Amino acid sequence: MSSMRGERRLLVRDLVQLATPAGNAAPLRGRALGHVDVVEDAYVLCAGRLIEAVGRMRDLPRLEGEIEEVDGRGLCAIPGLVDCHTHACFAGDRLEEFALRAGGASYEELHAAGGGIMSTVRATRAAGELALAEAVRKHRGWMLRAGTATFEAKSGYGLDLETELASLRAVKAAGGVPTWLGAHAVPPEFDDADAYLDFALAEVLPAAAEIAEAADVFLERGAFDVAQARRYLTACAGAGLRLRLHGDQFTEQGAVPLAIELGARSVDHLEATGDEGVAALGKSDVAAVLLPASALFLGRPMPQGRAFVDEGAIVTLATDFNPGSAFCESLPLVCSLAATQVGLSPAEALAACTVNAAHVLARSDRRGRLAPGYDADVTLLEAPDWRYLAYHLGGNLVAGVILQGQPAELG
Ligand code: NIG
Ligand code: FE
Repeated sequence: MSSMRGERRLLVRDLVQLATPAGNAAPLRGRALGHVDVVEDAYVLCAGRLIEAVGRMRDLPRLEGEIEEVDGRGLCAIPGLVDCHTHACFAGDRLEEFALRAGGASYEELHAAGGGIMSTVRATRAAGELALAEAVRKHRGWMLRAGTATFEAKSGYGLDLETELASLRAVKAAGGVPTWLGAHAVPPEFDDADAYLDFALAEVLPAAAEIAEAADVFLERGAFDVAQARRYLTACAGAGLRLRLHGDQFTEQGAVPLAIELGARSVDHLEATGDEGVAALGKSDVAAVLLPASALFLGRPMPQGRAFVDEGAIVTLATDFNPGSAFCESLPLVCSLAATQVGLSPAEALAACTVNAAHVLARSDRRGRLAPGYDADVTLLEAPDWRYLAYHLGGNLVAGVILQGQPAELG
């Protein structure tokens, strides 16, 4: 077998296992979410940026021409992980707030007192575009070391024209998928949420829509209500953006029905969603993005993950990486939480942060599987079985990441 177009080829050989969500359908729901193909003693052959072939070592054809090799002994290959919900563009930290919360203060109280999200807004506005770009690059490095090949990141810590656009540009420059979270909080220079939305939709949306792929809103008590979220999202859809919602994080405020009404791509969080909302999402095409690291970090109840799977929802997992509610960039840790706290099997967790996360980012035709024709993004785990992904709680098991057919520098 020789490369058709003479591209650079990379062979990952002698893998203990290769594991990938079965079939080629996307998104996955119900029983299909738990179907994983496992190949023992496996190889992955990459040609240029794409996967050319996967299979068992004993079926590896004779390869001609120059081939770079990666020794896969002791390693398992899974699709490069996809983190479809992060807030990786921020400056400063929230360490003082973290310490206050550890002493009993609640996240919502700190937010209401002008801390929380607004304290990161102050730091992010003050940072300047270069420092912001540097911050996203640094966070991207952390994610890569945790096995994330594809990441989404939101703006939402600028809330003014200049910083929102700088944030979206920084995400894109770091190779991320940018989402405009223009409705994250109401900045202090506006009297109320409606006045802020007047500004954001008139002044920021036109330029944000040139860079971002999706729009997001924080629909919650103390942030934006259903009418405001509907207005914001409808305008964003009109500008060609996919729609996402932060919904049911603390209380049910109508995020699920609104997402269904507007044909949103996802509702994310869902810790407070009751049975009716779970059933409604299960019947819909709106993905349920679960963020168990955020529930853990804030000491909040976990989402009803098992029920979402059983009701047929497009269950997806993400980190929610941000300085306030989830200072955690590790999808392997999220998979452990999914298996131990949320009721997902390791196989369901894998599909949820590969194929389904790629679907949320409208990339499921190229990302989230190890199969010919997909992008050659591979995460290598140092483990005797791929399920260590969920089993090794907090383990440092990512041995390497291949991005678009090239071994990445993990630093
Ligand atoms: O997804 N809930 C709203 N937004 C983020 C947290 C942002 C922050 O605390 O800085 C979230 O949890
Ligand atoms: Fe979030």
